[in-house]
Amino acid sequence: MTYKINDELIEKIHDSSDLVDIVSRYVRLKKTGGNYVGLCPFHSEKTPSFTVSESKQLFHCFGCGEGGDLINFVMKIENLSFIDAVKFLADLQGIPLEENKIDYKLKLEKDILYAINKDAARFYYYNLNNNKRPLRYLQNRNIDKNIINKFGLGYAPDRWESVNNYLIEKGYKEVDIEKAGLIGRRKDNTGYYDRFRNRIIFPIIDFKGRVIGFGGRVLDNSMPKYLNSRDTLIFSKGNNLYGLNLIKKHSDDEKLILVEGYMDVISLYKNGINYAVASLGTAFTHNQAKLLKRYKREIYICYDSDRAGINATIKALNILGKEGIEPKIIVLPIGQDPDDFINENGLEEFNNLIDRALNHIDYKIFINKQKYNLNNTEDKIKFTKEISKILRDLKSPIEKEVYIDKVSREIGVSKEAIQKEVSGRDYKGNTSFYKDKYINGRNRYNKNKIMPIKTVLEPAHLTAEKTLIRLMIKNKEYYNVIRSYLGREDFLNYEHNILANIIFKEYETNSDLTELAPKLIIDKLGKEENLDYNLIYEIMDIDVDFLPDNKHKLIEDLIKRIEYSKLEMTRKEILKEIQEIESKKRKDEGDVEKFKSLCLELTKLDKKLKSHI
Ligand code: GTP
Ligand code: MN
Repeated sequence: MTYKINDELIEKIHDSSDLVDIVSRYVRLKKTGGNYVGLCPFHSEKTPSFTVSESKQLFHCFGCGEGGDLINFVMKIENLSFIDAVKFLADLQGIPLEENKIDYKLKLEKDILYAINKDAARFYYYNLNNNKRPLRYLQNRNIDKNIINKFGLGYAPDRWESVNNYLIEKGYKEVDIEKAGLIGRRKDNTGYYDRFRNRIIFPIIDFKGRVIGFGGRVLDNSMPKYLNSRDTLIFSKGNNLYGLNLIKKHSDDEKLILVEGYMDVISLYKNGINYAVASLGTAFTHNQAKLLKRYKREIYICYDSDRAGINATIKALNILGKEGIEPKIIVLPIGQDPDDFINENGLEEFNNLIDRALNHIDYKIFINKQKYNLNNTEDKIKFTKEISKILRDLKSPIEKEVYIDKVSREIGVSKEAIQKEVSGRDYKGNTSFYKDKYINGRNRYNKNKIMPIKTVLEPAHLTAEKTLIRLMIKNKEYYNVIRSYLGREDFLNYEHNILANIIFKEYETNSDLTELAPKLIIDKLGKEENLDYNLIYEIMDIDVDFLPDNKHKLIEDLIKRIEYSKLEMTRKEILKEIQEIESKKRKDEGDVEKFKSLCLELTKLDKKLKSHI
């Protein structure tokens, strides 16, 4: 049943629900000032940065950036579509939903096509069981009666008008049979002919159990090997997956495997893997990704191991990635598809492959390794560059570090060299700065020992820098407070540092300014190749009015956070120095002295860190 979802209903929902009430069902909230705060349900944190504004009926997390209104919250926390979130809330508030006027004409038209397909599937099934040749073909592929029944396999006779005659006899009209895609009009306009002839038939069944289309395979080597139903009122290749009907009912597994072919789904099923689906011979689409997402399972891709399969895997990875799915890739031996593999090696071996499935980065490393001969210097360089490009796009600095370390060990190129490559330094000797979440600059707690640190900045530290920058732009009063604690050099992220310099300079040179226009800042930035402009726009987009009311308290907290993470960084540096001395085989007197003073410094730092908590 469908319901009318319109502005009126949405307004009613907003009128009758209070965001604070709804959020309180999931998060323990505490009132502070005009807002409520709590631990964010969308990322893990120890100090609350999840804020709900009662007056604005909006939520925002300063830790992870999630935010929005009541409906966004329900969508996110219950993992629902917009419409389902509206229904969920309407239900909760007892708001009756008006039934949508169904387009009965369209529904009727579709129902006829479903009925035709169902009868056609019966016809094909009947014919399979009465024809030796296709039965033998399936037998040769190890497909028994059980599987034939489970998948409703069939056979289209080698005649021009068999399914057509059968369906007409059943009372259907030729125009409708044509609409179902089962017959085509003859060129000379003298009637119709069956589209599927002398083929094994694979009915495509949707998750509601309706036959929506067919695939047909030849029994020999003739071409085309497979023929699929054309798109119809009830069938669209890019919106469906083969095998989905069996997933919902019979599988209680936590996994879902995406394969290329009908036969892959069937062979896996026969061997005990009842959770594979195939993408129907078209390139994998966004809608198919959305379908998969509904099942909330771990997704695996297991395409053929040839070049086409590899390319299709990379494309599917990108599409799934856009839906927020991070699949794993099951790698098959060269020249095999899942059907070949499981028939030759059995379930246990296939399960081993599942266990050894690669994540997307490892997969890309794996295929690049095959492309290059790592014993050859030139190839090694090319390989490292390729991989660096991939690692550059990784959002998580931790992941980046781990992979740099891994690649370095695997191919014997130093971590530093790979790091440089990943961070995109050019080769003209220009030291462009570490972009993204890497710091460049100096640690001001180490004024006497100026050493560059290239450590990873904590997300909380980055958020603090960002918010402070935004506040300084918003109001000179905030700038004055912030400046009394932090200098421009204290903004460690590259982009933040550049913004801080512009902000400080503007306020210093134009004493009558009370705030800065974001546009002015962007203009001042000019065009610098190394700047991550997304990051800058992100800062400008921070909704200042939505930040907690007590701005001075907020500024204080943010500065504390920055100081804390700087102390931690200094601590790491000291530890490193201590370890260096410890690892020296021969320690002279100077070393011993230094060791002592470092340990003293470490103790002091630990005290300071403790007092910060
Ligand atoms: P078998 O040879 O029966 O094992 O086929 P397969 O499942 O291994 O198929 P293959 O890897 O050759 O192709 C994967 C999928 O692509 C098939 O299941 C079809 O959906 C589709 N496909 C393959 N060949 C054709 C073709 O000639 N035309 C169309 N439209 N689709 C095809
Ligand atoms: Mn095959």
